Amino acid sequence: MEDLYYSDYIQLDKILNSQHPKSFEAMEEGNDEMLFIIIHQVYELWFKQIIFELDLVRHIFIRGRINDNSDDMSKAVQKLKRIGKILELINQQVTVLETMTALDFLEFRNMLLPASGFQSRQFRLIEAKLGLKMGQRYKNEYYKHSRRGSLSEADLQEVDQAESESTLKELITKWLERMPFFDETYWREYKRSTPQSGSVDKQATASGSDDKHKFWMDYRNAYKNSLSENEAGRLKEFDKVFFEEGRGDVSPAAMRAALFITIYRNLPIFHLPFELLNTLSEIDELLSNWRYRHFMMVRRMIGLRVGTGGTSGAGYLEGTLSQHYAFREITEVATFLIERSKRPTLPNALKEKVSFNL
Ligand code: HEM
Repeated sequence: MEDLYYSDYIQLDKILNSQHPKSFEAMEEGNDEMLFIIIHQVYELWFKQIIFELDLVRHIFIRGRINDNSDDMSKAVQKLKRIGKILELINQQVTVLETMTALDFLEFRNMLLPASGFQSRQFRLIEAKLGLKMGQRYKNEYYKHSRRGSLSEADLQEVDQAESESTLKELITKWLERMPFFDETYWREYKRSTPQSGSVDKQATASGSDDKHKFWMDYRNAYKNSLSENEAGRLKEFDKVFFEEGRGDVSPAAMRAALFITIYRNLPIFHLPFELLNTLSEIDELLSNWRYRHFMMVRRMIGLRVGTGGTSGAGYLEGTLSQHYAFREITEVATFLIERSKRPTLPNALKEKVSFNL
């Protein structure tokens, strides 16, 4: 067998022969279009790797039963952290493009119409696989494939397909809902930290179900006491989020589990689950950072002009920045935290239960 040669192994010829700046055909000297093409290609390669890792993590959770201390769990966290590192890197890369000035860009901008990053199938797949739905997208009328500058019908179908499969957000929600923290066998020796009073509390002791569990009544009281006068309305929100409606598309049971893991993250059993939730928030934040950097760069490059993809340009990008999050609900669990010293003390039986098979 012949020795494998580096450039053959990574198919370098294909990659290095894939840059064909439109403007070079007519101009004698090159301009920044080469940089413009290469940077987009580099981004798309990283998007490909992100999708690869995301699918791997999704498949771990699709399998259903995950031991929270298992290799699967640490693998999921490791892959998600890798996605975070790639996002950090591609955020940095914006600075390379920023060495191109607005006038440099104008030299070739009209030649690429109506092509635009808006049509990046892989970027849309990342958003969809994380959990962003078409209905939640800012100005989703821009996605109609009949619009000039939108995605092709085939690309939109692929995004649609990704949305209809289990998204990471849906899988994480189901995993959170399976947490068996409130099995009565662990709570027999639980000592209430607040006297039982009030209608909600009476209801709680009567029902004994997870959501009206004595622990949550104690926590609710501690949260109530932590609120300042002008935050008193938050208690209503607490009830809504954890006992009634949940938040966004995350159920009350999943929100309770996310809060429980966050409060008791110091317990060994919660280290990995907390890392997981924290990394999801981090990914959301890093993607927002990218949106912000791209938006600022675009404003410098084209001011208030419309984009090549036919959206309102910077105005549109600013809109996506405030609206496009996959894990907002998980991140905003912080709204409902209380000081460490005020947390109810967990019964030993629960603390000793060190391995959950979910
Ligand atoms: C001179 C540099 C760039 C300019 C002026 C620019 C401009 C724009 C504009 C105006 C939009 C809104 C859609 C439209 O109407 O076209 C957009 C969207 C987008 N661009 Fe860029 N862009 C630049 C570089 C990049 C690079 C390097 C990437 C890397 C892949 C990229 C990826 C995207 C993506 C993914 C979107 C969709 C964002 C969303 O809808 O949330 N852009 N760009």
